[in-house]
This record gives sequence, C-alpha cells and structure tokens, in this order.
Amino acid sequence: MSAIRLDNLRKHYRTGFWMRQFEAVKGISLTVEQGESFGFVGPNGAGKTSTIKVLAGLQSATSGDAFINGISCSNPRSREHLGFLPERPYFYTHLTAKEVLRLYGALFGMKGQVLTDRIQSLLARVEMTQFADVALGKYSKGMLQRVGLCQTLLHDPDVILLDEPMSGLDPVGRAMVRDIILEEKQAGRTVFFCSHVLSDVETICQRVAILVKGEIRSMGAIADLVTAADSRMVCTFQMVEDYPVESLNLPTDQQPTAKADLWTLVLAKSDFALFLRDNVQKITIVDVHQERKSLEDLFVDMVLEKSPHTSSNTNTLGVLA
Ligand SMILES: Nc1ncnc2c1ncn2[C@@H]1O[C@H](COP(=O)(O)OP(=O)(O)O)[C@@H](O)[C@H]1O
Ligand SMILES: [Mg+2]
Repeated sequence: MSAIRLDNLRKHYRTGFWMRQFEAVKGISLTVEQGESFGFVGPNGAGKTSTIKVLAGLQSATSGDAFINGISCSNPRSREHLGFLPERPYFYTHLTAKEVLRLYGALFGMKGQVLTDRIQSLLARVEMTQFADVALGKYSKGMLQRVGLCQTLLHDPDVILLDEPMSGLDPVGRAMVRDIILEEKQAGRTVFFCSHVLSDVETICQRVAILVKGEIRSMGAIADLVTAADSRMVCTFQMVEDYPVESLNLPTDQQPTAKADLWTLVLAKSDFALFLRDNVQKITIVDVHQERKSLEDLFVDMVLEKSPHTSSNTNTLGVLA
C-alpha cells in the first residue's frame, strides 16, 4: 500500500466578482511509497499548497481523490498517522511553546508523562528549550517554524507533509530542519516535501515531481531527471596550424565559439563521433565533457517552457555530478 496516492486530483476555485472558475490543480496523479521522501516542487502559484491541503483534509478535491495509507483524505481516519506543517503555521500568540504543544498533544489524545517527555525532547531537538516558557507572540518567524515542526512530529506520525518548511529560516535553521527531516526519513517515515527552493529538495528527496501551472511536467528520481537532460557534449579544441576554423566539417548548424586560441563546440552525443571523424587532422582536443544540468537548470527550463536542450548553460559542476 502506498503512503500517499493522488488519483487524477483536480482543485478549482471560484474567484472574483463573476466567480469565474480557476483551475489550480489540473488532474495530477502520483504515488509515494512507504518510507520514501518525495519532493513536490514548482514556482509560486503552481498548486503545491492546494494539493497538500487536500492531502491534509483541509479542503476537498473538486474531482479525483487523494489517499493517505490507502484511506481517502475525505475520511478523518486518514489523519491519524499524518503530521502536517502548513506554509504559515498559526498559533495562539499568548500561549508559550510548551502550552501550545500540550494543547496539540491533547487533540491527538496524548497526555501525562508521555506527552511531557515528548514535548521536552522535541523542543530540545529544535534547540528551543530555553524559550519553552516564552509566549509565542515574542517569537521570530524562524522560531515559530521550529515550534510548527514540533507540532508536526508530536504524535510520531508515519506520513509527514511539509509545506515550504525552510521558508523564513536562516542558513543555520535550514540546516537544522534538513537534519530533522533526514532523521525522520532514516527512521522510516514517509516525507512529502513542498518547496520552490531546489537545493533543499536535492539533499532530502529521492524522487521529485515538478509542478507548473497545476500540471506535473516531470517526475522521477532526481539523478534520472538530470541525466536525461545531459545528452550534449562540450568539446574544446585548438586548430592545427594551417587549418582555419572555417575549414571544419560541422555536423550541425552550431558554430564553435572562440576564447583566445581555444574553440568550444557544443554537440549532440550522436554528432560528436562524426565531428571527430571528419576533423581529426585539423584539431587538437583540449577537453571533452558532458554538459551537466543541475535540477535547478531543469526546473528553470520547465518553468520557462523550454525544451531540455535549449539552455546554453554548461555547468560542469552540476550539483548532482
Ligand atoms: N482559496 C483560494 N481561492 C482562490 N484562488 C486560490 C485559493 N488558493 C489558491 N488559489 C490560487 O491557486 C493557485 C495555486 O496556489 P497554491 O496552491 O497556493 O500554489 P503554490 O503553493 O504552489 O504557490 C494560485 O494562482 C492561487 O492564487
Ligand atoms: Mg504554497
């Protein structure tokens, strides 16, 4: 049984004076297996929060269905083993971190020493012990996000939904949240992680779906998505004396570019062998490498609706290289 399943999920809103229908999520399907960490990435307005709210039971789907551990999200039982960190966690500002977590614990049916110990250990884990008795109204955005994370993990859920968990955090806070997510993953929890920050997703998630305008543009293991886009060769060479660059036999329209006496040509893999065969006496090869795209490049291409091969970026330090 999959931990999370979306089955042709659609979410429409009616907006404006004329209550025109707006399609925020346009029929998406995916499954996340038990223990998997899955990245749900896309630019602002892509439909990530709309989807996660259906999964958390906060709003109903217009059509299609969503399941947690095989139970439809319209059934409150689907939330028994679910932890959810909303995009902007909202708490009663006059309560302290300890009080607010006791309140949430009670809602989950926890009590007594078990709850007290759990709250203590979670606050220590997010390095908030010293602020445990301070009212939340005095907290910064980053501190509230940490309390939100404690609330999400309080009842030891199997499936964890995180909507932009790193937003508003400084680099130290980001690293801490990342480590906590990795620990949960190692403990066998399923993590569904929405973000528009790709570097966070790359370090945490095995698979990602890239969502643009309510549709999944690409889905798979990060390494596979990046490799699929990596099919061009970047060849740097010098011209052998007496041969001008115009004398080269080029398999495509692409022209070499010059930097001092070095020429660079970007070629499809299949054209590379032809280029070598036809020009072997005229050139001295200095370097050949595969064009590497990072997930970031791929994401930008998809958001700008470019094909994977139209970017001129030849980042040899591709994040996943
Ligand atoms: N309650 C709502 N009523 C009307 N439109 C909404 C509502 N919630 C979200 N939207 C619209 O749906 C689109 C997707 O929003 P959202 O799911 O929040 O995207 P993301 O989380 O990827 O930034 C946006 O254009 C947003 O303005
Ligand atoms: Mg959002």
